[in-house]
Amino acid sequence: MSHVLAAVAWPYANGPRHIGHVSGFGVPSDVFSRYMRMAGHDVLMVSGTDEHGTPIQVQADKEGVTPRELADRYNRVIVEDLHGLGLAYDLFTRTTTGNHFAVVQELFEGLHRNGYIVPKVTMGAISPSTGRTLPDRYIEGTCPICGYDSARGDQCDNCGNQLDPVDLINPRSKINGETPEFVETEHFFLDLPAFAQALGKWLDTRDGWRPNVLRFSKNLLDDLQPRAITRDLEWGVPIPLDGWRDRSDKRIYVWFDAVIGYLSASIEWARRSGDPEAWRRWWSPVGGKDARGYYFMGKDNIVFHSVIWPALLLGYSGEGDRGGEPGALGPLNLPTEVVSSEFLTMEGRKFSSSRQVVIYVRDFLERYDADALRYFIAVAGPESQDTDFTWAEFLRRNNDELVAGWGNLVNRSVSMAAKNFGAIPPAGELTTEDRALLETAKKAFATVGGLIEKHRQKQAIGEAMRVVAEANKYLSEQAPWKMKEDLDRMGTVLHVALQAVSDCNTLLTPFLPHSAQKVHELLGGTGIHAPMPSIVEVEDIDGGPAYPILTGDYTTGARWESVPLEGGRPLAPPKPVFRKLDPSIVDEELARLSG
Ligand code: MF3
Ligand code: ZN
Repeated sequence: MSHVLAAVAWPYANGPRHIGHVSGFGVPSDVFSRYMRMAGHDVLMVSGTDEHGTPIQVQADKEGVTPRELADRYNRVIVEDLHGLGLAYDLFTRTTTGNHFAVVQELFEGLHRNGYIVPKVTMGAISPSTGRTLPDRYIEGTCPICGYDSARGDQCDNCGNQLDPVDLINPRSKINGETPEFVETEHFFLDLPAFAQALGKWLDTRDGWRPNVLRFSKNLLDDLQPRAITRDLEWGVPIPLDGWRDRSDKRIYVWFDAVIGYLSASIEWARRSGDPEAWRRWWSPVGGKDARGYYFMGKDNIVFHSVIWPALLLGYSGEGDRGGEPGALGPLNLPTEVVSSEFLTMEGRKFSSSRQVVIYVRDFLERYDADALRYFIAVAGPESQDTDFTWAEFLRRNNDELVAGWGNLVNRSVSMAAKNFGAIPPAGELTTEDRALLETAKKAFATVGGLIEKHRQKQAIGEAMRVVAEANKYLSEQAPWKMKEDLDRMGTVLHVALQAVSDCNTLLTPFLPHSAQKVHELLGGTGIHAPMPSIVEVEDIDGGPAYPILTGDYTTGARWESVPLEGGRPLAPPKPVFRKLDPSIVDEELARLSG
């Protein structure tokens, strides 16, 4: 039993999220958290919408609304989408809360006090027409090193070199094409080189990480530079230092503020729970000796989770080269593991909202069931290599595996038992075949659970589906429908089959929680088998405007174990749990995609 923090990447509130997003951070973190809870751990799963920074400001300008209005709109959309997917957050909040501002400023001050945040004058680009800062990646020009004509301000995609926008030849704004002006501007920098040693030591003690994630993270340490953590921007968390606090043109960098969300959301959760110190069980090296923290994201987020966030935690705890004292929150735990997924593409192309190569979560859920998507992501998602979503493959996985495999097993065993016995028949004497199937199902708990704990969800669901296949084979071989004259034996076979269904259902619960609840009820079970999150409208505890959160009570669900079925429990004729899809959806969806 340990305290397990599931820290899930915070989606930007600058638009609706597509299925590529939720296949990276959303579904895998929920599968993991649901399993860990079922296995008896004390899980705290937190996230929220990431609402500051240039991405929000730029989109708001485009839509002619304020950043706050934009963030309000998409915060709600995203909350509803994640709710529709059944993602069981203890708290899904947002970065515009009073609590988040206070925690971000506390960390900034602590790092500053310990000497890890230093001011520096730099050259920054501004847009002459708006007077606003142009962030590096919104500047394009010719690479001074290789001559490539669409190099980005921060990096050349042709030769791979890191660039400074001031050095670009013919720089232009990607927003409106104008030539940026470069002016002197003062900013705060995080002294990343002061953490190189501590980060190296920490990474050297990590095991079980996906090898490419660990290698990539270690490589980042070879070239650590001080990194600007403030921006010329009006939208964001104010800098909590005298002389800066009241300036409306300088804000903390969005990534500095967003990663702190994991901590601030844990604190908000604790404050809302009535025990404001409860967050320490997951965060304090003293308060929670058994605490582990798992961070879920897509691969473009690795640097922020394996370098920047740990550096902030080290610096605040007084553990970099410059030493120092822990701030008021006390020393804080570093991540146990950075669980990064690869990318999902859509019919062979990169997801792109602007080019309409996209399927939003909302549109998906309007036409298909959440568990159909969850199943696809679990068996065919981008767990450790880039993978492609195609509608043909979605159809095949749904119809041939989910419906014809698992759905069929549930359906024929429950209907045969309901029709012939009206209840779960008691088991008579067991044959070798009966015992073998029961044994296979029982053994799978350790295998599947172990794989989920190691973030090998593809293999894990593969093992669960292997038991489903075994049970289907058992039913076909035993052919209980031919046992009309030997009802005792028929009852025993169906009892064994239903026990296998019940076990498979538990094994599949982290992946398919909505259908798991239904199967539980088909088997005559009552109460909550797979708890679901709810959307709750709350007041900002520090006086800001109200907002919707995702939260839930997840203490009541099924445990990760085989539960013996009692004979005699009444059964009703089943309703189908999964929907077979018509093959015509493939062409329909492809037509939608091409506009
Ligand atoms: N908003 C970022 C993205 O969508 C992720 C932020 S993760 C956090 O890529 F840790 F910073 F919150
Ligand atoms: Zn170049």
